[in-house]
Amino acid sequence: MQSSILISGATGLTGSIFLSLLAQKQPGATLHCLVRPTSDCRLLEKFNLKLTYHSGDSARRTTWDKILVQKNFTTIIHLVQLRQIHTILDSLRQVQHTPNLIIIGTTGVYSQYNHYGSEYKEAEKALATYTGCYCLLRPTMIYGSHQDKNLHKLIKFCDRYGFFPVFGSGDNLIQPVHAEDLAQAILTALQRPHIQGAYDFSGGTVVTFRELLTLVGKLLGKPVRQISLPLNAGVWSATIIENLLKERSPVRREQILRLQEDKAYPHDAAQRDLDFFPRSLEEGLRLEVELMRSLGMISS
Ligand SMILES: NC(=O)c1ccc[n+]([C@@H]2O[C@H](COP(=O)([O-])OP(=O)(O)OC[C@H]3O[C@@H](n4cnc5c(N)ncnc54)[C@H](OP(=O)(O)O)[C@@H]3O)[C@@H](O)[C@H]2O)c1
Repeated sequence: MQSSILISGATGLTGSIFLSLLAQKQPGATLHCLVRPTSDCRLLEKFNLKLTYHSGDSARRTTWDKILVQKNFTTIIHLVQLRQIHTILDSLRQVQHTPNLIIIGTTGVYSQYNHYGSEYKEAEKALATYTGCYCLLRPTMIYGSHQDKNLHKLIKFCDRYGFFPVFGSGDNLIQPVHAEDLAQAILTALQRPHIQGAYDFSGGTVVTFRELLTLVGKLLGKPVRQISLPLNAGVWSATIIENLLKERSPVRREQILRLQEDKAYPHDAAQRDLDFFPRSLEEGLRLEVELMRSLGMISS
């Protein structure tokens, strides 16, 4: 059977890099993309790929039903959100298809903070019942460009103000993973359809939050002062902002609480089965800082 691939989240950070890698490896390859009516797909048009768009909302069952009834895909790569897996599995059961699934989860599943971790645990449990082959990739914090959700904002803030607040000790461990390393692993999983199971994807370097700020200062070429603040101050402020702004809040109480957790995870299994050799944080952040400079987002 000729392979046919459906991907969700193609316009995102990891998704767009995956498409660029696929275009290099298999120029002219055919790919079906589930995108929102509002998604900006112009970026994807520059890749040497034959793209078919399916417009919809990956959180909705009707979207999957409509797409899956049209075609029996050999692989579905779902990058949008692991918590939507129940919807996808229900829809697949309905049409009785069992494509290979490549799903992005998160190492947030290990979080002791219930709201965050329990939903992912439930989703992983559901995925484990799938009768076809599946590969679950659990990244740590993803970084790599101004499209990332976390580090580019930190870099911008440090560049602009020359300081950054550190709530609590700042000694908690983090191990961010570069989006291109993750995208390469997705491509490898696609090329190894018999890969089955869940893998953690962390970056090449483990640092404390304070070491991260020192590294950012080094790459920006200016020191970043670390303003120590009690953890409780952060938790209270985030709670008030969250109560006031609800969904629009830029920070959640849980995010501050999670600052205390160590978020470093070994990636030995991914290295063994998916040839995953992530770059060092210094190398990845240097590229991100250079990119942000070239875009005029930070001072040169
Ligand atoms: N960012 C992190 O630090 C982090 C850490 C661990 C795990 N993850 C997980 O890793 C995955 C990839 O992260 P990323 O940062 O590369 O993604 P991203 O840049 O945030 O992109 C998200 C993508 O999902 C699409 N999308 C969102 N909601 C959708 C919906 N309801 N229907 C259809 N498409 C929808 C977006 O489309 P539009 O173009 O329309 O917005 C975009 O293409 C996500 O599953 C995320 O949960 C992220």
